[in-house]
Amino acid sequence: MWKDWVRPFVRPLPQWSVVAVAPPQQTVVASLRWGKATADVTTDHTVASLRPLTIATSLDAGPHPVLEYRDRVSGRLLGELRLVRATTVSTEGSTLALYHVAAGGHRCLAWPLRPWNAWLQNRLMQQNTSSSHSLMAPAATQQLMIAYLCPRPVVLVSVDATDHHNIFPMDLIGPLGRSGLFTLALRSTNVSMPIMREQRRVALSCMPAAMKDAVYALSVHHKQPLADWAALPFPVRRSRAFGIPAVAAALRIRELDIVHSEEVGSHTLFVGRIVSEEAQTQDTQLHHTAGFHQAWRRRRGLPFAEARSA
Ligand SMILES: Cc1cc2nc3c(=O)[nH]c(=O)nc-3n(C[C@H](O)[C@H](O)[C@H](O)COP(=O)(O)O)c2cc1C
Repeated sequence: MWKDWVRPFVRPLPQWSVVAVAPPQQTVVASLRWGKATADVTTDHTVASLRPLTIATSLDAGPHPVLEYRDRVSGRLLGELRLVRATTVSTEGSTLALYHVAAGGHRCLAWPLRPWNAWLQNRLMQQNTSSSHSLMAPAATQQLMIAYLCPRPVVLVSVDATDHHNIFPMDLIGPLGRSGLFTLALRSTNVSMPIMREQRRVALSCMPAAMKDAVYALSVHHKQPLADWAALPFPVRRSRAFGIPAVAAALRIRELDIVHSEEVGSHTLFVGRIVSEEAQTQDTQLHHTAGFHQAWRRRRGLPFAEARSA
């Protein structure tokens, strides 16, 4: 159809693709390359802040490494980010390196569609005035999409204090494998941020892809607390050690003991240890990846399953 052929030239790809992936994702390998060394960081890197765009890892990869994302099966390079070491965070006998993203590029679309799609996406971002869009410059958002070449799992974070209850979605999360630590990057404007810094414990519910709509509906709780656990449209059950209400239908419930938190640019980086992990069901988890990554896989006849609205 002529319309299918014309569409990529007039309409940008979506920035994000909401997909259903069996955890842990195995499709993309992330590596840090510096000097003559290279190391797998698929389960040892995460986003620590959006402004400035910052990557955390527990690997010391020198002052200016390159973070590469490759398709695991074909070995094809999908994209890379050029990093510059900004600072370190030391806690619990481990040192985390925080790197600013200096530049980046992807190979998911061929020239001239690649710069043209970025131009269309940037133009759309400049027209959009929502607060999450205005947080980042278009060039940094393009780099963030590259960081999402590794599909990022979505969890619901539960906070439960005497007079404050909340549950909201997060995907700027991850294990920093070598250190055994786990981080959450939460925008410092989040209404529960001060309570989390004080209480230092949360429950993470790994969300089934089929609960996409319920997860998205809870994004309002980044700004306002939850009035009552009973008001949620799904059942909750108390987590094992902390007794924090978590999603009864979650694939897995983890409890995180927060051992350190500090402001990193626009976000507060929470560093913790998983103190319990309850695997409940095996199914696909809600994930986000870059729209151009899904387009690349679609061209090869191997798209991720889209997470569908109920
Ligand atoms: C699936 C999902 C994951 C999110 N992950 C994070 C996160 O990891 N950190 C964070 O600070 N905010 C996260 N948010 C919140 C959004 O970035 C945004 O602040 C929120 O949806 C409110 O949108 P608005 O600021 O445009 O009104 C997430 C939202 C959704 C729906």
